[in-house]
Amino acid sequence: MKRTTFAAALGVLAPLFVPANALLRFGCAKSSVQRLDPLVNNGQNPSPHLHQIIGGNSFNVSMDIASHDLVKESTCTSCQFTEDFSNYWTAVLFFKAKNGTYKRVPQRAQSGMEGTQGGMVVYYMSDALFDTAQKSTVTAFKPGFRMLVGNVNYNNREQARDFRQLTYICMQNEGTRAPESLTFPKQPCPSGIMINHRFPTCWDGKNVDSPNHQDHVSYPETGTFESGGKCPDTHPVRLPQLLLETVWDTKTFNNKADWPADGSQPFVWSSGDATGYATHADYLFGWKDDSLQKHLDGHTYVTAPTLKTQSIAQQNKCSVQDMVKEDIDSWLSKLPGDIVA
Ligand SMILES: *[C@@H]1O[C@H](CO)[C@@H](O)[C@H](O)[C@H]1NC(C)=O
Ligand SMILES: *[C@@H]1O[C@H](CO)[C@@H](O)[C@H](O)[C@H]1NC(C)=O
Repeated sequence: MKRTTFAAALGVLAPLFVPANALLRFGCAKSSVQRLDPLVNNGQNPSPHLHQIIGGNSFNVSMDIASHDLVKESTCTSCQFTEDFSNYWTAVLFFKAKNGTYKRVPQRAQSGMEGTQGGMVVYYMSDALFDTAQKSTVTAFKPGFRMLVGNVNYNNREQARDFRQLTYICMQNEGTRAPESLTFPKQPCPSGIMINHRFPTCWDGKNVDSPNHQDHVSYPETGTFESGGKCPDTHPVRLPQLLLETVWDTKTFNNKADWPADGSQPFVWSSGDATGYATHADYLFGWKDDSLQKHLDGHTYVTAPTLKTQSIAQQNKCSVQDMVKEDIDSWLSKLPGDIVA
């Protein structure tokens, strides 16, 4: 309900393309779609399943903390703010036809960002989305910081409880922000499926990574970032809430006659998951100098006075070459990586 209130506010803001702030909200075009994962499968080409990637163009097969500097090695970013060379990625959505073949589902830009090729909308918040004051103090991520949210092997509700707020929205129209579900929507969604990835917001204050890319961060002791939950003593440092929104344009797959006869829904993740519980996202921090911290300290809501922006045309131009070189766009008999869902 609170998100609906904010969506109403965005309805006013978005068409003007005013970046909303210290609640930061900005679009990033796709930079590549390929089977790489330099966090979980660093150095491995190809990685097990397909990802859609945005951000700085230093994205590569290997991105070791010690030797890979996202800021120095990038010459452009697909994001609106030119000081953000971070990389963000998620799995890719496919439609499974009745004859068993798979087709990659395109992504679409949100209102106010029309023309952006694929990609996502990224948020960094000091307080809950609906809180226009954004007064709380948060500590921006440190150089080298990275994390993973979600688990690609999860396939049931009990497991999914390990994570909070990884959700699906069946969009009836551009403004739909509720309800949110933990599984793929069961009915066709006229305006597509929005997928939200909210990352943990408490940090141990020491490690920029951990072996499973999760243990150095934590959720609040109780509730969520939005409900103002306190960080646990083990992870006392309050981070900004990082939220990724991806809109999958399912329009061409919405004919119920093409859906499975058993009444199930036809969408699957590139990892082979047909439930939705395996949803996950990866983040490699790469903001230049202290630009993110400075911005968050500004506690503004509708302006980003300290940040530089670029046009959507420039965002679209910042792509990363395909280093895997495999067919991801035909009707495929198996998902990339020989995966069958
Ligand atoms: C990716 O890494 C390879 C090997 O280190 C390097 O030759 C190449 O230039 C890198 N690509 C980008 C886009 O940085
Ligand atoms: C499978 O179904 C899809 C969707 O109807 C169709 O486009 C494709 O050509 C079919 N492939 C085969 C091998 O029948």
